[in-house]
Amino acid sequence: MKRLNIDLADRSYDILIGRNLLAKTGELIAERFNPSRVAIITHPSIRNLFGEPIESGLAAVGHVPEFIEVPEGESSKSLQQAESIYDRLLEMNCDRKSALVALGGGVVGDLTGFIAATYQRGIPFVQIPTTLLSQVDSSVGGKTAVNHPRGKNMIGAFYQPKLVVIDLDTLHTLPQKEFRAGLAEVVKYGVIADKNLFAFLEGNAKAILLLDSHCLEHIIETSCAIKADVVEKDERESRHRMILNFGHTFGHAIETLTNYTGYLHGEAVAIGMVQAAWLSAKTGRCSEDVPQRIEDLLKKFGLPTQPPDVKSQDVIESMYHDKKTERDQLRFILVKDIGSIEIVDDVPETPIKAVLEKAG
Ligand code: GLY
Repeated sequence: MKRLNIDLADRSYDILIGRNLLAKTGELIAERFNPSRVAIITHPSIRNLFGEPIESGLAAVGHVPEFIEVPEGESSKSLQQAESIYDRLLEMNCDRKSALVALGGGVVGDLTGFIAATYQRGIPFVQIPTTLLSQVDSSVGGKTAVNHPRGKNMIGAFYQPKLVVIDLDTLHTLPQKEFRAGLAEVVKYGVIADKNLFAFLEGNAKAILLLDSHCLEHIIETSCAIKADVVEKDERESRHRMILNFGHTFGHAIETLTNYTGYLHGEAVAIGMVQAAWLSAKTGRCSEDVPQRIEDLLKKFGLPTQPPDVKSQDVIESMYHDKKTERDQLRFILVKDIGSIEIVDDVPETPIKAVLEKAG
């Protein structure tokens, strides 16, 4: 088992990465804190796959956890869903020493984190992410949220978990398409911070797609270490943390214009990273080898790299409406080289249009 620590003073916590960890969750929690009650928030299918070992592990240290099931899909990240979970926690007599466990992907993690941040002004929670995307991104760093009809993640809090348990075995039941989408975020870490990780991905793409344990452990550990370092430097995203949004400016526009139905998040980010990298070359920040390498690697992972048939003006309008854009300026995370990145606040529209039109 590998252990990383996110150093955030009294909000510091461990990220544990390895195999067969689900059954040890009870013991891993007990080593760190002693909850008065435990509620596990999950989807029915995820409970069927992974609930039993976690339940037995908790029982071994004296806890009888309650499972709270929510439907799959983004619609569970709502205030209505949160309210029904608050009701359940109150019925269970959960107090401020009770703990929540998020068992699942980003939807369960963001929702559980939001409830943990707000129930009785904040109770401890543990992340057990079961998708690659949530293992390398959303379970780490304390962004929690529910959606509002007018926008995703509009209501939320920065609230760190007490522990993140990443069991590599959960990836064996993850649909291939979702696994590949998670790899887009791993590629992102290579581009923004680590040329060796990027080269490792290029050299080991086949083994990664075959879920080789050593490769998985290496890429997940490296990704989480990069994210931990970024979050330690800028927990509340005053600036530096924005580098984690590489590929997301274009990616969010594509998700919005396809009504969040055309692409998985990682797939939209893959397209967005390619566009952002071509924009970097177009604005003289890097040579054309850089976007080409990124595009080639994403293709090796079977990810889309070209935007759908959408008007460049619509993409630009959508980017102006994105909450990550400020004061009518288009901010992009641009690449200087593989492993080196720059936050640029005022990218003019002309090169953006040129990149979109070239791609289309
Ligand atoms: N997913 C980007 C962040 O955690 O900041």
